[in-house]
This record gives sequence, structure tokens and C-alpha cells, in this order.
Amino acid sequence: MLPHILFRGLLLGLFGLVAAQDGGISGPQTSPEAAGYSCDPNSCKLPDCNCASTDPPGGLDPDDVPMFVVFTADDAIQSYTLDAVNQFLAHRKNPNGCQPKMTYYVSTNYTNYTLVTDWYVAGNEIADHTMTHVGSPPADEIHGNLIALNALAGIPMSSISGFRAPFLQYTAETLKLLHKAGFTYDSSASASIPVTDPHTDAYWPYTLDNGMANGCLAVPGTCKGEPKLPGFWEVPMYSFFDRRGGAGPHLMDPWLDYANGGTKLDNNATLDYMRNTFTDHYNGKRQPIGLYTHPIHVSPSYVAAPGDPQMIAMINTFLDWAQDHPNTWIVSTEQLLDWVRHPVPASQLNQLASLQCTPPAIDAKICNGMPQNEAGLINHCTFSDAPFYTCYGCPATQPMPSNPNPEQDTSKETRLRLPANCSTPFWDPVKGECLCTSSSCAFNDVLRPIGLNGENYVPGGAGGSMDSKPKPTDTPYIPFSGGNPLFVPSTTVLVGVFSVLVGAMGMARL
Ligand SMILES: *[C@@H]1O[C@H](CO)[C@@H](O)[C@H](O)[C@H]1NC(C)=O
Ligand SMILES: *[C@@H]1O[C@H](CO)[C@@H](O)[C@H](O)[C@H]1NC(C)=O
Ligand SMILES: *[C@@H]1O[C@H](CO)[C@@H](O)[C@H](O)[C@H]1NC(C)=O
Ligand SMILES: *[C@@H]1O[C@H](CO)[C@@H](O)[C@H](O)[C@H]1NC(C)=O
Ligand SMILES: [Zn+2]
Repeated sequence: MLPHILFRGLLLGLFGLVAAQDGGISGPQTSPEAAGYSCDPNSCKLPDCNCASTDPPGGLDPDDVPMFVVFTADDAIQSYTLDAVNQFLAHRKNPNGCQPKMTYYVSTNYTNYTLVTDWYVAGNEIADHTMTHVGSPPADEIHGNLIALNALAGIPMSSISGFRAPFLQYTAETLKLLHKAGFTYDSSASASIPVTDPHTDAYWPYTLDNGMANGCLAVPGTCKGEPKLPGFWEVPMYSFFDRRGGAGPHLMDPWLDYANGGTKLDNNATLDYMRNTFTDHYNGKRQPIGLYTHPIHVSPSYVAAPGDPQMIAMINTFLDWAQDHPNTWIVSTEQLLDWVRHPVPASQLNQLASLQCTPPAIDAKICNGMPQNEAGLINHCTFSDAPFYTCYGCPATQPMPSNPNPEQDTSKETRLRLPANCSTPFWDPVKGECLCTSSSCAFNDVLRPIGLNGENYVPGGAGGSMDSKPKPTDTPYIPFSGGNPLFVPSTTVLVGVFSVLVGAMGMARL
């Protein structure tokens, strides 16, 4: 697909430059003086407050702490980017026998929405990376991504809890926007000093009750107690370090960097320093490490520029080797954060629901993120620059930050979007029916203040909810109306009946 060729061509062609922009660092990003950080662990307590610290949460002895390998991918989701991730994870098992999950920081531009649904229903985390991949993003890029993923991939608002800034370019304002929009965490700041250095910034994830402690030399207006965002987490991205130590950090796609100040790619040298950094963490305080990938670069099926098989093999060799260490778990960011908030010794890790594997059991042939059910039901939205597939009805125009949930294309049968009271695998967007009938699958999404004029955005309907003016043809879907499930003449009939939701919904439709 042309846009991808251009995109990747750009990344590869300008690699030196892009490495610095899209996830590269060249030295320490903070210092104790720049951080000016203080936090009292007697008043800042789990699960909703945690001081930035190199010590494991919950006062656990490092020997009892699981070694987490956080696996993430960034940018558009396409078949060949999922192929890339699958070649690293699909054949693996964590110590509890479950296949590892990972986090995908999704940009919706060039994303194939139905694959997002499938990836999410399979248990992976879907997170926000802005709609069109812009650094220091304005609110509409962040909010629009949530809305488009909710409307066209059926991802509940409550499930999109994390954010990573494109090019890792975040500002103090970005963090404030995220907090306000109901995100749980950001993962854009880097831990840039080796754990073997007494001034290491490899903190366990922490809340911003006392401001940021990472990125202090790089991002103005953060650190020295700012910004104070109670209960909002930073999950630092942990660097690998080559033989140069602190002078040789490698953050995203380390396998695309030259190791040890060299002038060409050397998979062996990369493998060597990745192992060494893992060992430093494992033998130390067990801070997580991360494989932060742009999977397009290591895709086996990206015809325009397939990944280097030896590089791919090297990454798998690293993961095989890491998994040979007792208590090593490959996790998504949300799984890591769940453990940090509820730390238990590694021997009891399977008690955490978030680390278990319980695939939903739905046999009905509905368009719900389970590939075996979906055949023949998926809509093909044939936009010339970025075509995609979705279960939830093609929009009439491409979703954009200015209108992330356009009206549905009326030339096709209308699909109904995931409402707030049904979870993705149970929702039939064709019939507009929730197949969940027991309390075990009951679901209630959260409403987030990301709609028009900062009102709560209400999931559901058939599209068009972000149009700034109601049109005569609007047929708002009010999921809790009595008689006609789809259309009500005016919101007034609802007043007083569902007062909590009605205000939000009425506003969201204006
Ligand atoms: C998009 O998704 C559809 C449906 O799953 C799939 O058939 C197609 O190959 C995908 N294309 C890309 C480029 O991801
Ligand atoms: C995708 O990004 C390109 C380049 O920035 C832009 O021209 C295009 O309009 C975007 N398309 C969508 C659907 O966001
Ligand atoms: C990398 O290591 C492998 C196995 O030790 C060896 O066969 C190969 O020649 C090495 N490659 C380079 C470029 O050093
Ligand atoms: C969701 O709300 C709609 C409208 O009130 C209702 O008809 C439906 O039964 C609810 N679904 C579930 C699973 O509670
Ligand atoms: Zn990106």
C-alpha cells in the first residue's frame, strides 16, 4: 500500500534523523537536580499512589518480584504489523501457560479497524497514539483516536487507558490533557540511565501526585513537582545500554540502531547488549525491561520491504533466552500496571485476573472480533488513500481529528456501534443485540469528557455523533429508549428517567 511504502521509506531513508525523533535518545534525560523530586511513601500509597522509586512496589524483596518484559508496538495496525508481532509472541507461553499479551499504541491513520477489534478481543491492550501521528498532540488528536477506535473497532472507552506520544514528543500539557480525558497512564518518558548507576532513573511505574521524575532535562514544565496529576501514572520506557554504558542507550527498535558506536547493523552486538541489560535488571531490583517495537520494520509479510530474517531470529533468540530465567513474564503495559498497583510475589502471580487467559466463548456467527465468526460480515470501506475494514459500518468520510465519528455511509446496511452496556465479543452490530445474558459478562463502559465542548462522549449509535450541528436526517440512536430501540423524536421523553446519562447524551449529539 503506497502510504506505507512512503511512511516506511521515510523512516528508513532518514533513519539517523528519525531515530532521534521516533524513539531514540542519546544520553541521560534527567538528573537528580533537574528532577527535584520528593515524595512521601507514608502518604502516597498503593493502589492509586506510588512514589517514583527504584525499589519494587509493595516492599517486595527483588527475589520475589517477577521479571516483566513489556512488549509494545506503535502506529497503524495492518495485517503485516500483526504478523510481525505474532512471530515473536504467538508461540510463547508465560509461566502460567497463557500466551503473552502486548500493548498496541494505535494511530488510526492507515489502520485496518477490524484487525484492532480482533487483536483486542484476543486479550491485547489497545492504547492511544493519536489519530494522524503528531507529536505534542492537541486534544482532538488524542480524543479523536478514542472515539474512532470506539466507533469503528468497538473498543470500549474504559479499555483505552494508555497513551504514547508519537516520536515520544510529549509536553506537560500532553500529560494534563490525558489526565483530564480519563486516561490511567502515559508511557512516553524514557528511563535513560543504567540501573547499575546510583543515579539511575529506571523507576518502577509511579503516579504524578508529586510530578514527573523522568524526562526532566528534555521536557520543559515537568519535574520539580510538576505537573501534579493525582492517580495518573507514568510507565517509563526502559532503555537498553550497549558497551558504552550510559553513553550508549537504545530505546525503541534497538535492533535498528548501530551498537557500540559502530557504523553498521550488527545483530550479534545488539543481542549481546540486550542480554546484558536484562541481566542487570534481573540481578538488581527487577525493574521491567521493554521491547518497544515499530513492527513494520521486522514484518515477515510486508512485501515492499520485508524484515531481515536474521534480525527477526535474533529478537526471538533474545526472548527465548529471557524466558529461560525463572519468573520472567512477557506482558502488556496494562498488565504490568495492574501488578504494580496490586503487587504479589511472583509465586502468586496467577492470582491476578489480568494475567490469566480466559478467552470469551461465543459461538454465534456475529461480527465481533472473533475471526472464525466474522467471515462474510465485515464491511470494506474503500477510501482511496487508506482503505480499511470494519464490523461497525463504513463512515461516509474518513475519520479525522475534526470529525472522528462521521455519519455512516447510507448506501450500505446500517451497523450499530458498541453501546456502553455491552462488551465487544458479545455485541452483534448487525442486529444491534447484546448476546450477554448473565451477570458474568455484564459490562458498563465509562463515559469520558471527550465529546463536543468537553461533554461526556456516549458510545453507541450509528455514527455522526461528532458532527457539530444536528442535520434534519439525523436519526440518533438512544440505546435505552422504551418502544423503538433506534429512534426517538426528541430527548425530552427521556428527561427524568435516565437523568445521569441523558444530559451527556443530549449534549453529545448537538
Ligand atoms: C484488513 O483486514 C481484512 C479483514 O480482516 C483482511 O482481509 C485484510 O487482509 C487486511 N488488510 C491489511 C492490509 O491489513
Ligand atoms: C493520513 O495522513 C496523511 C499524511 O499526514 C494525510 O494526508 C491523510 O489525510 C491522513 N488520513 C487520515 C484518514 O487520517
Ligand atoms: C553472530 O553469531 C553467530 C553465532 O555465534 C555466528 O555464527 C555469526 O557468524 C555471528 N555474526 C557476526 C556478523 O558476527
Ligand atoms: C443495554 O441497554 C439497552 C437499552 O436500554 C437494553 O435494551 C439492553 O437490554 C441493555 N443490554 C444489556 C446487556 O444490559
Ligand atoms: Zn509512532
